[in-house]
Amino acid sequence: AQPACEYKPGLEGVPVAQSSISYVDGKEGILKYRGINIEELATKSTFLETAFLLIWGRLPSKQELDDFQEDINNHRRIKYHIRDMMKCFPESGHPMDALQTSAAALGLFYSRRALDKEEYIRDAVVRILAKIPTMVAAFSQMRRGNDSVKPNDDLNYSANFLYMLTEKEPEPLEARIFDVCLMLHAEHTMNASTFSAMVTASTLTDPYAVVASAVGTLAGPLHGGANEEVLTMLEEIGSIENVRPYIEDCIENKKKIMGFGHRVYKVKDPRARILQQLAERLFELTGHDEYYDIALEVERVVAEKLGHKGIYANVDFYSGLVYRKLGIKPDLFTPMFAISRVAGWLAHWREQLAVNRIFRPTQIYVGQKDGVYVPIEERS
Ligand code: SDX
Repeated sequence: AQPACEYKPGLEGVPVAQSSISYVDGKEGILKYRGINIEELATKSTFLETAFLLIWGRLPSKQELDDFQEDINNHRRIKYHIRDMMKCFPESGHPMDALQTSAAALGLFYSRRALDKEEYIRDAVVRILAKIPTMVAAFSQMRRGNDSVKPNDDLNYSANFLYMLTEKEPEPLEARIFDVCLMLHAEHTMNASTFSAMVTASTLTDPYAVVASAVGTLAGPLHGGANEEVLTMLEEIGSIENVRPYIEDCIENKKKIMGFGHRVYKVKDPRARILQQLAERLFELTGHDEYYDIALEVERVVAEKLGHKGIYANVDFYSGLVYRKLGIKPDLFTPMFAISRVAGWLAHWREQLAVNRIFRPTQIYVGQKDGVYVPIEERS
């Protein structure tokens, strides 16, 4: 059969789904979740309400949101088997590998019941949204020699996560800023980790395997891993006067500048704008961050050198500066992305179940046609 279209590296510009979950306009720098502008959600909503909106396609009533929060509280704790398993992980291991392993391990405890039952889907959504933050906090605590995390049910989703991670109640502004970060990272149409989730979901495997696939994909430095790489870059640059030579060297040696560029956005990522505002609000509370000044200079120089190619700051460029000010260590930056994006992965998992068609694209074969088997003794 003839290919339906020509080969597009990285599937650039190829529609692989019809979706009603989110919308991006890369020229205007617009992002909408279920038709609502991200700026409006960031001001008026919460992560849990946004997760409900993304997954079930509408804003919850007050009762539904309270029930959702209560269900999540009741499922926050992780089985001791998983905590015991984590104790065998090397402390030097990356938290994204720990998260991918423990996310997949969740599937050991919950049978692969019929996926088409709404209550099975809701159970899985609640368990995954509730346990992912606890698993991230548990591995982080374990590396500090504490073998348990204590969720605090008096705190909302985001404040509780910061509490489990730092063992101190966050300032209300810090909790709110973290909650907005989670909203900003929750969903972004056909990004690599969501597409990975969809391909996995299309074989009707269980949602824990779907999330494990997506976590592995998000971990890469070209995707969610970039937020951690940005801070490494800012530390390497070290001062404002070193910015220009550093960027010129990257361009000279075709080295990708972390936190810049995007397959869809050809202007500054609207999420980067909001993250900058959050960073500036945090600095008022906790003091200025000299890396922010370096970051602003990096953005200026990159716009001068690469703006003509449509390369501008993306969501990963400022997020790390916000997380660091919230007391989150750099190797936990990408797990923060995962805690949030799991809402988008679950929304697409649910949407994909309704499509119920396995992903199986084609290829253009460029290999040899008539290979010959040469016995080993006759090979050079
Ligand atoms: C995320 O898809 C999503 O929506 C992702 C995300 C989400 O919410 O899920 O938005 C989150 O992953 C943001 C991106 C985080 N990654 C980084 O910051 C890593 C650095 N960025 C690049 O690796 C790159 O921009 C990508 C991966 C983001 C996009 O890759 P593309 O679309 O395949 O672009 P490309 O590699 O084909 O580059 C096109 C041109 C090339 O130049 P030419 O060879 O044509 O001359 O632009 C250049 C590239 O060299 N380029 C860069 C660059 N990004 C692209 N040059 C320097 N620095 C960069 N960052």
